[in-house]
Amino acid sequence: MLFLFHSLILYLSLTHSLFCAARQYPTTQLYQFPNGTFVENLAVRPDGSILLSFITSPDLYLLHPSSPNPTPHLLHRFTNATSTLGITETSPDTFILAVTTILTAAQGLPGSSSLWRISFPFPKSTSPEITLAARIPAVVTPNGLVTLNRRKILLADSAQGLVFAVDLETGVSTVAIGAEEPLFANRGRPISVNGLKIRGSRLYFTNTALNLLGRVEIDRSTGAARGLAEEVVEALPPGKGYGDLALGGGGVAYVTNAAGNFVERVDVRRRRQVVIAGEVNSTEIAEPTAVALGRGGEEDVLFVTTGGGLLIPVNGGEIVGGQVVAIKLGRRYR
Ligand SMILES: *[C@@H]1O[C@H](CO)[C@@H](O)[C@H](O)[C@H]1NC(C)=O
Ligand SMILES: *[C@@H]1O[C@H](CO)[C@@H](O)[C@H](O)[C@H]1NC(C)=O
Ligand SMILES: *[C@@H]1O[C@H](CO)[C@@H](O)[C@H](O)[C@H]1NC(C)=O
Repeated sequence: MLFLFHSLILYLSLTHSLFCAARQYPTTQLYQFPNGTFVENLAVRPDGSILLSFITSPDLYLLHPSSPNPTPHLLHRFTNATSTLGITETSPDTFILAVTTILTAAQGLPGSSSLWRISFPFPKSTSPEITLAARIPAVVTPNGLVTLNRRKILLADSAQGLVFAVDLETGVSTVAIGAEEPLFANRGRPISVNGLKIRGSRLYFTNTALNLLGRVEIDRSTGAARGLAEEVVEALPPGKGYGDLALGGGGVAYVTNAAGNFVERVDVRRRRQVVIAGEVNSTEIAEPTAVALGRGGEEDVLFVTTGGGLLIPVNGGEIVGGQVVAIKLGRRYR
């Protein structure tokens, strides 16, 4: 009788997990920072290790996801700043990182932002050379960065609803896509255009205030828009908080949904999306901020950073330390 009862429980839990596995991918928490830490963004190096940036400290950390007990290592603490934000790789193992002073939850101090070059001298090195790449005085709140070409990056200014092109050779920044683009608007909310990624001649972006993923044709030498942007999808409910995105193969975009505490996979052509990990009332992925696909043998893993619910608490009140979570996608979706 007891045995039968146990078998029944086992059967029920197996069918439950099979059902969940069909809908969602398995997740592993690689590391959780102390309470009060908001992990903002990430970039994966060619060797698979992960660079991490933070709203709550002017730090740059490195985490090796495949080590047995992943523990982040502080690479650098910037002076005269509160936060590190977007990161983009501009040539193999060389990255540009945005550093700023955040005044309130999401507003930057005008004139406080700069871009730094993080250059690793050899593969697996943990001692990068860090130099100032450009001051960006016209930017208020730097957010997502993306490499446009050999000379330039694009930078989302979430406060002004603008995308700047920064020439890394001259240090000059100019507005590439401006206030005439309605899908970059902020409607009076603090965070508008947020994540940026490029595929071919299209710039994909999220707008947190408008709660959408969009795309726009751009000129690959200047970053200027060729026409108006189009909406791809609106964030799934409860809404409020599309964050950063990653592009996978086969017309797929992975987008973080901060208030939903989940990650969505968007079929860009069909304009449809599904939740692939996390759940609205769970701290498993508490307030996800950014996603990136693995490298160095972990191409089928999607890494997620989280704010731990610091800005949007889970279940109205739960806050945990910012996390780094791995979602195992398997071969089909990368
Ligand atoms: C520190 O940052 C503030 C605001 O960005 C700036 O006005 C000031 O000159 C900076 N101080 C130093 C020593 O760099
Ligand atoms: C999440 O929790 C809220 C109340 O905290 C509840 O109203 C809602 O139904 C829950 N949603 C799910 C999907 O469990
Ligand atoms: C983390 O901080 C929040 C808000 O300050 C608090 O409600 C929560 O209990 C803390 N959690 C832990 C594990 O200390």
